[in-house]
Amino acid sequence: MTARIAGIGAYVPERIVTNDDLAKVVETNNEWIFSRTGIRERHISTGEGTKDLATEAARRALSAAEVDPKELDLIILGTSSPDCNFPSDACSVQAALGAVNAVAFDISAACAGFIFAMNIVQGFFMAGVYRTALIIGAETLSKVTDWSDRSTCVLFGDGAGAAVLKSCESGGIVDMMMGADGTKGSALSCTSRTFGNFLTKTVPKMGFMSMDGQEVFRFAVRKVPESVEILLKKNRISKQEIKYYVLHQANERIIEAAARRLNEPIEKFPMSIAKYGNTSTASIPLLLNEMQKQRMLSAGDKLMLSGFGAGMTWGAVLLEW
Ligand code: COA
Repeated sequence: MTARIAGIGAYVPERIVTNDDLAKVVETNNEWIFSRTGIRERHISTGEGTKDLATEAARRALSAAEVDPKELDLIILGTSSPDCNFPSDACSVQAALGAVNAVAFDISAACAGFIFAMNIVQGFFMAGVYRTALIIGAETLSKVTDWSDRSTCVLFGDGAGAAVLKSCESGGIVDMMMGADGTKGSALSCTSRTFGNFLTKTVPKMGFMSMDGQEVFRFAVRKVPESVEILLKKNRISKQEIKYYVLHQANERIIEAAARRLNEPIEKFPMSIAKYGNTSTASIPLLLNEMQKQRMLSAGDKLMLSGFGAGMTWGAVLLEW
């Protein structure tokens, strides 16, 4: 058995923050941000939490798939910005949807979270454990963004994307892979949290993210083509057969560099980074949702999905739409 995407949904907060808006907060400008990243604007939450964005994206995906929440066996939510340590946001989404028959949990694989969730679902489906799953990538990274750090605050946006996966005999996910390298963890992290301490009466405080941009850039430009090539070779599929490469939307220049390394035309690499920024684990389903809305996808199309992020983590999924 294999996992097929039966419906996609996405949701972003209403408030749009442009590069010019950011230039009023930190020393930056539209020209720098756009030329270095391809980002023009992003959506930022003004109160909605990760679970709220996730629930709305999930509702839209369920409606597109014509699946009742009670039919769900499994809900996996990938996020690096959960609303609380526990309960998991996945459990909150389960409650909000009334998905009473689903087991639910969060996963932490940063921007590769949606790809990791697909891998996990495929494993469960292949083993015959579950038949209907909801996977969600949702972030309100704005709450862990240091708005005085111009090297990171211009990059990220809030949003959520979701997909309903159904077990089927053929088509859907053809193959998948994922990887992790914890030795490079410090390249992109959010570890400056102050933990609470009973003896010193220290109050726990949330930390902010920090990043070595060039290290992450180099890593992504190497890992994306590498994982794509692995899946193509293993499945004896030529690049010509791939209709679109749906890559994590971190930076337009990373996507362009990956296209060059794969020797594929940039037209096969759709992008939505200009209007959403880097929405981390939400970026791949957000992009799939845009492609669906623009009628770019037809049954049988072969797509290569690829994500990478903090950890460092990376992964790819080859699928038939
Ligand atoms: N506006 C204006 N200037 C900025 C700036 C901003 N928002 N952010 C940094 N700068 C400055 C730096 O201070 C530096 O100035 P200096 O030369 O006087 O020291 C200069 O711009 C160059 O900075 P640098 O960090 O070398 O730029 P870069 O070309 O590497 O681009 C990134 C920075 C972050 C855009 C790029 O490294 C990148 O995209 N990395 C990958 C990040 C990523 O995708 N992360 C998420 C992975 S999931």
